[in-house]
Amino acid sequence: MNCIFAELPVSVFEVMSRLAREHAAVNLGQGFPDDAGPEDVRRKAAEAVIDGWNQYPPMMGLPELRHAVAEHYRHWQGLALDPEQEVMITSGATEAISGALLALIEPGDEVVLFQPMYDAYVPLVRRAGGVPKYVRLQPPHWRFTEEMLSEAFTPLTKVVLFNNPLNPSGTVYAQEDLELLARFCERSGAIAVCDEVWEHVIFDGRHHVPLIGMPGMRERCVKIGSAGKIFSLTGWKVGFVCAAPSIMRVLAKAHQFITFTTPPNLQAAVAYGLTKADDYFADMRRDLQRSRDRFVNGLRALQFPVLDAQGTYFVNVDLAPLGLNEDDESFCKRLVVEHKVAAIPVSAFYADDPVRSVVRFCFAKRDSTLDAALDRLSGALRRAA
Ligand SMILES: Cc1ncc(COP(=O)(O)O)c(C=O)c1O
Repeated sequence: MNCIFAELPVSVFEVMSRLAREHAAVNLGQGFPDDAGPEDVRRKAAEAVIDGWNQYPPMMGLPELRHAVAEHYRHWQGLALDPEQEVMITSGATEAISGALLALIEPGDEVVLFQPMYDAYVPLVRRAGGVPKYVRLQPPHWRFTEEMLSEAFTPLTKVVLFNNPLNPSGTVYAQEDLELLARFCERSGAIAVCDEVWEHVIFDGRHHVPLIGMPGMRERCVKIGSAGKIFSLTGWKVGFVCAAPSIMRVLAKAHQFITFTTPPNLQAAVAYGLTKADDYFADMRRDLQRSRDRFVNGLRALQFPVLDAQGTYFVNVDLAPLGLNEDDESFCKRLVVEHKVAAIPVSAFYADDPVRSVVRFCFAKRDSTLDAALDRLSGALRRAA
C-alpha cells in the first residue's frame, strides 16, 4: 500500500466528530451551515434531474456554467476570462486542487505551503511527488513576511498553494501581502495554485482580491472556487478552475482521468445561481456576519480571547493569554466531554511545529445552536485555569 495514505493517522476531525456524537454535543467543529441553502437554486437542481440531461456532460463542464463563471468573476472581481479556454468545472475544489498538483508537479519539485492549512494539501502534494516547504503563520494576524517567503522559496520551487481567505484562521489577505507573494512567484517562476473557495464569505465590507488579477500573475495562477461555499451547499462539490490556456491544457488532462465530469444537473443549478442579483451575495454575507457577531460577542462575554474573523465560517480563540495548563487538543477534548460543545484544535492544521493555543469554532449555525453552545461554554475557562 502507498505509505502516504496508509500512514495517515485518524484525523482530529474524525475524533472530534465521534466525540461530538457520543456526548450529544453542539457540533461547531465541522464547517457546514445549518441553513438549507437558496431554495431557487435547489429547485433548479431538482428540475434539472427530472427534466434535464442526466448523461455525461462535456469534460470541461456545461458551456452555460463556464460562461456563468467567467461572467461572475468579471462582475465581482474584474477578471477577463475566456470561458472556452480558461474555465473548467470540477467535482469540488478538492478535485481541482488535486488535479492541479498532479498536473503541475514533477517528482522532487518543491511546493510552498502556508500553515495552518486545509488538511488535504500535504497528502496530495506528497502523493504528487512534491516536497512541501512550509511558511509558518501564527496568531494574532497570521501574516507572512518577506523573510518568511525568502526562507521557503528556493530554485526548486515549482508551485505555491495559497488559500485566501484562509481556513482555519479566517484571514483575508491585504493587497500588499498579495503583491509580496506575487513578486516571489514571478522571481522564482513558480505557479500559484489559489484556493479561493471562501472568496464570497468575507465580512465588514471587504472585497476579495484574486491573486490572478495582480500584475504579472495572469499567466502563472490557477484560481479555484467552489459553489459549495458560495451557496452554502457544501455537499454539492461543484468546483471552478480558471487559468491561462497554456496551463489549462494540462489541468484538463488531469481532470479527464480523475473524474472526467461533474453531475450536469448540479452544474445547471450553479449556472443559474451565479447569475443571481448582487442582493443574494450581500444578504448571505450579512446573515453570516450577524451570526459571527452574535457568537463573538457571546464568547467575549465569557472572557474568551477572540481573534479577528475576517472571512470563512470560522472564528478562533487564542488561549495563550489565559495561561491555561492544557493545549488546544486537550482543551477541545475537555470541551466536548464536559461542556458538550465540539470545536477543532488548530494545531491539527499544521504539518510541523504547530501553534498549540488556538481553537476553531464554526459560527455558520442557527441562533438557537449558537446560543446553546454559548450557554454550555460558560465556566469552561474557569475550570481550566
Ligand atoms: C480551504 C478549503 N479548500 C477546499 C475546500 C473544499 O471545497 P470543496 O467542497 O468544493 O471540495 C474547503 C472546504 O472546507 C476549504 O476550506
